[in-house]
Amino acid sequence: MYMAMLEIPDLGSTSYMFKWSTEQYIEEVENGSDPGLQEYQAAEIKFIKDNITKPEEKTFIDVGAGYGRVVTQLAPIAKQVIAIDIDKQLLEELRRRANHFNNALVIEGSGDDLVKLINKDIEHPVLLSLQNTLGPWDGNRQIAIQQLRALAEQNKGELIVSLFCREAIQDWGIPMYATTEGLLGKYDPAKSDLATGIYRTSTNYESYWFSEEEREELKHQLGGHVSNEIRDHKYHIFHITYAESIQGAS
Ligand SMILES: C[S@@+](CC[C@H](N)C(=O)[O-])C[C@H]1O[C@@H](n2cnc3c(N)ncnc32)[C@H](O)[C@@H]1O
Repeated sequence: MYMAMLEIPDLGSTSYMFKWSTEQYIEEVENGSDPGLQEYQAAEIKFIKDNITKPEEKTFIDVGAGYGRVVTQLAPIAKQVIAIDIDKQLLEELRRRANHFNNALVIEGSGDDLVKLINKDIEHPVLLSLQNTLGPWDGNRQIAIQQLRALAEQNKGELIVSLFCREAIQDWGIPMYATTEGLLGKYDPAKSDLATGIYRTSTNYESYWFSEEEREELKHQLGGHVSNEIRDHKYHIFHITYAESIQGAS
């Protein structure tokens, strides 16, 4: 039984002021020292590869693609990859990486405008929202969620959403973030509220960690059919298929 609508706070106002650094991102996250973060990133890639059949027939749309961490892994196996991001600094490296592939396209813009940004029918799209991208979202998460559903549903596609779990914000989040201070800044307890999933730093980074109940409600709001999921203590990754997506063994 689903009761109230998911009420996710719109935390966009301060994160717009946050400045990403591609170099620090690669050093402290992709190649960082936190074992849980490394395990998570490997689990995400494995989940995509295990769950998306016939990738050579599909267009991956990475919404909030960052500097292209996953784009370079998907372009060699996909029909096409469309990478969308809003951050000018990360977009530089994203474009540089995408240029190595003739099937990778970069779009600068907000996931809040996803349907308009894509602006055409895509056969078999696989939408991706990875590495808790809906957490430090610059914009309105509720609109972004509606846009993900609209694009996936109208094209009978698939969607993978990967989120950090609020249950782990204290025992894993805090020590994990301590290893990413060069990128995200120092934890600011006065501006954070871990009990309600809000983590903020001295450099205006903020991230929202969804509770278990909110993640269930999010799945409900995204519609479609949850065909597989991983529920780790630290992260929750789920694969949603919409009618007639290509399924079955490749
Ligand atoms: C935590 S990073 C994850 C990057 C990437 N998904 C990955 O797995 O490596 C979040 C990314 O979402 C992007 N982002 C935040 N708000 C966005 C929005 N409204 N539209 C598009 N991208 C957004 C940020 O610029 C950043 O690159």
